[in-house]
Amino acid sequence: MSNYSEEIKLVARPGEIAFSKGLEGVVVAESTKSFVDGLGGKLVYHGHPIEELAERSTFEEVFYLLMHDRLPKRGELEEFSRLLERQRELPAPVSALVEELAGRPGIHPMTVLRTAVSMLAAFDEEAEEDSPAADHTHAIQIVSRMASLSAAISRVRQHKPILRPRRDLSHAANYYYMLLGTPPDSFMSRLMDVLLILHADHECNASTFATIVVKSTLADTYSAVVAGIGALKGPLHGGANERVMEMLEEIGSSENVEAWLDRAMAQKKRIMGFGHRVYKTTDPRATILHAYAREVTRRAGTGRWLDIADKMAKLMVEKFGQKGIYPNIDFFSGVVMASMGIETAMFTPTFAVGRSAGWVAHALEQRQDNRLFRPRFVYVGPESEPYLDTSERS
Ligand code: CMC
Repeated sequence: MSNYSEEIKLVARPGEIAFSKGLEGVVVAESTKSFVDGLGGKLVYHGHPIEELAERSTFEEVFYLLMHDRLPKRGELEEFSRLLERQRELPAPVSALVEELAGRPGIHPMTVLRTAVSMLAAFDEEAEEDSPAADHTHAIQIVSRMASLSAAISRVRQHKPILRPRRDLSHAANYYYMLLGTPPDSFMSRLMDVLLILHADHECNASTFATIVVKSTLADTYSAVVAGIGALKGPLHGGANERVMEMLEEIGSSENVEAWLDRAMAQKKRIMGFGHRVYKTTDPRATILHAYAREVTRRAGTGRWLDIADKMAKLMVEKFGQKGIYPNIDFFSGVVMASMGIETAMFTPTFAVGRSAGWVAHALEQRQDNRLFRPRFVYVGPESEPYLDTSERS
């Protein structure tokens, strides 16, 4: 037996080295950005409870907090906000790409977003520069333009002209304006800020992990964020919000919830918007969104969605609560976004607009104290196979 196969055998025995499917419970890095208390149902961004940030802060301030590990002074916030504002305009060829792709049948907006962010790198002459100053510039450009891109994608999907950004609006209000075509009133502006703040960061989630894995190879930040967008698209992660809305539409009315749920359970279906790897109680972001859902559905006349969602949440907690399955952020964000007038397919891109702040902050943090991510697989293939001629292969 060669040393090589001995090594394979050793690595193959889960009990003998750290092995955790899906990396559950595995700590991969230190971070100062955010912390999730899964049993207590708490989330903090650098020591600040999410409830306080959702009530008092803005997306710009939260983005600064994630980047710099402290809240900005007034002048610093103004300067940071200006930096973001100045980057809102998209390079013309990138807008043209969105025009070309976003209206194609069957193409998902996240596919267009992923492609367009990749293309943005080609219009940043310093995309390959590797220094703290360049990292900061890339981060600002990416976060600012993700909002413009997401809005542009939505407009093209609706056969409407892409709107130029407005410099007189906050990041959230400008995103709302570019997405929906009219500037928001103070309630909608606040709600968009809250949505982006709640989605901005969430510790070592799959898309942030994908982002820092790419960054750990010393690749550029655009490449890292493209990986994050790819990971967020999936229905077990950011894509769940769209599936929740489709589910509510399928259920149709609150009277149908129980029968629908019984059928889904009998078929062992995964109920979207419920469950979380870390939270074993209600996600605090879902609680915050639920409060907003009341007001926005009242204004939009979409109370039916919330009635269905509330009934569903109650029954799910009764049936699955003991297993630690509770509503997560994606359960109520769909009702909120739909009531704001956002098309279902644009829910995950809107999640991405918020989460881009966390991605770039973690990418920079990774760069400052880098070690390549290079775990192992448990090899469960055969140890040795004969190489047969093609005619002899079964
Ligand atoms: N509906 C029904 N059963 C569920 C659900 C659900 N939503 N979530 C977990 N379970 C069950 C699962 O069937 C399994 O049962 P059993 O032990 O009997 O086989 C058990 O719970 C553990 O499931 P798991 O998939 O091993 O747990 P996980 O920690 O990998 O799950 C999750 C995390 C988010 C992938 C899962 O809860 C899920 O698929 N939820 C639905 C999708 C969703 O809402 N995703 C958004 C997550 S929050 C926002 C974000 O990060 O994007």
